[in-house]
Amino acid sequence: MEETRSEIAQREGFSSSIGVIAATLGSAVGLGNIWKFPYVTGQNGGAAFILIYLIAVLLGSLPVMISELMIGRKTNANAVGAFKKLTKREPWFLVGVSGVLSAFLIMAFYTTVAGWVFSYIFKAATGTIHSTNPEQTSAVFQGLVSGVGEPLFWQILVLGITGVIIMAGVAKGIERVTKILMPILFVLLVIVDIRSLTLPGAAEGLKFLFLPDFSKISFGVVLAALGLAFFKLSVGMGTMTTYGSYMGKEEDLPRTALKVMLADTLVSIMAGVAIFPAVFAFGFEPKSGPSLLFITIPTVFASMPFGRFFMVLFFILVAVAATGAMLSLLEVPVAYLVEEHKLTRRVATLLTIVAIALVGSTATLSTSLLSQHLFFGKNLFDLYDFVTSNILLPLGGIFFALFVGWRWGYKGMLVEFSNDGRLRNEGVAKIFFILVKFVAPIAITLVLLAGLGVF
Ligand code: PHE
Repeated sequence: MEETRSEIAQREGFSSSIGVIAATLGSAVGLGNIWKFPYVTGQNGGAAFILIYLIAVLLGSLPVMISELMIGRKTNANAVGAFKKLTKREPWFLVGVSGVLSAFLIMAFYTTVAGWVFSYIFKAATGTIHSTNPEQTSAVFQGLVSGVGEPLFWQILVLGITGVIIMAGVAKGIERVTKILMPILFVLLVIVDIRSLTLPGAAEGLKFLFLPDFSKISFGVVLAALGLAFFKLSVGMGTMTTYGSYMGKEEDLPRTALKVMLADTLVSIMAGVAIFPAVFAFGFEPKSGPSLLFITIPTVFASMPFGRFFMVLFFILVAVAATGAMLSLLEVPVAYLVEEHKLTRRVATLLTIVAIALVGSTATLSTSLLSQHLFFGKNLFDLYDFVTSNILLPLGGIFFALFVGWRWGYKGMLVEFSNDGRLRNEGVAKIFFILVKFVAPIAITLVLLAGLGVF
């Protein structure tokens, strides 16, 4: 009894429904919205890609997100422990293991980009990137990514900050911080959107973003959309299982997932509106890749009144968005080590961040010292990104869906979905069940195989 009580005390979760939304949205909103979404959209044909992305969200990642939240809340456990509690002597826990590995690998390259973002706060403050000339901002970015000591320093700093917050206990830290900063991020995006939209030539960017060009769509592009849909909502790897385990029994999980998905999509589109009109106005190529955020955005700010001030603020907020996501990524292996291997939170966190620093440095150095090391034509940074987003997350997603659809079954699932009938959402539950039982696993499998060129 004592033990149960202290276990419960240790797992003290989010304190309010607003906190649940803020923390979950904090995980979903991150570099994926402000960095990845715009450039992947840019590379893959604009609006046609967004449309496919939305279909992938509705049929794939949203049902998986709800599945994960339910599995987590039902078991009150980390990604691996949750499956161990739900099944005995069955290999389902491997889904959790794959999740822990994915979280680790995503952190390896995510901290590289987060490091760039943190360094940009200072570059913005000191005026280094305050230029309306793309060539100049581009040179600054190239200087950063082709360096060694500078990007490593920022990556390790980012890991340190994330680690300290995780050690102090996630729920209170994330919950409190995200509740304040999410709205501010939103307001700032509106300001940048307005500025971007009022630039001469902005209409071209809007056309690019909102007029679909289906000639660009291939299986590879559909796979990219699916991968992004999983990455964006932090699903397929146990983050939402872990966060679900901190949610109360009265929380309406399907509704929470829907709200987070809508808000996250809105932020992604707003980031697109902030970037593409400016891209065209300044004569950039819309598909110039990951550097879009680091080369284009500074020129936009440099061209507006109080630009330096807003640029600093903007990069602070991108950094904060990234931090919310990193907290949820780090929490996956840490919760696993604490609960399954009985480490203290402090030791678990330290071990994990040291390991991430080691692997992550190879991502950071993939544009400098290790740039000659290519695997399947990709440098290490791109490889980690591709393997997680385009393979591990969709694969994890298939198994989360299969678990709920086939192993858990309708009745067991319904108890969690409807809070034991109190939510009266059985109609939606039926649709959800068809999605996780048939539609999501089949669709994700087909896209995964086709995208990898199997047929
Ligand atoms: N969703 C986060 C983003 O958009 C990234 C993330 C992926 C976080 C997977 C947790 C798990 O930046």
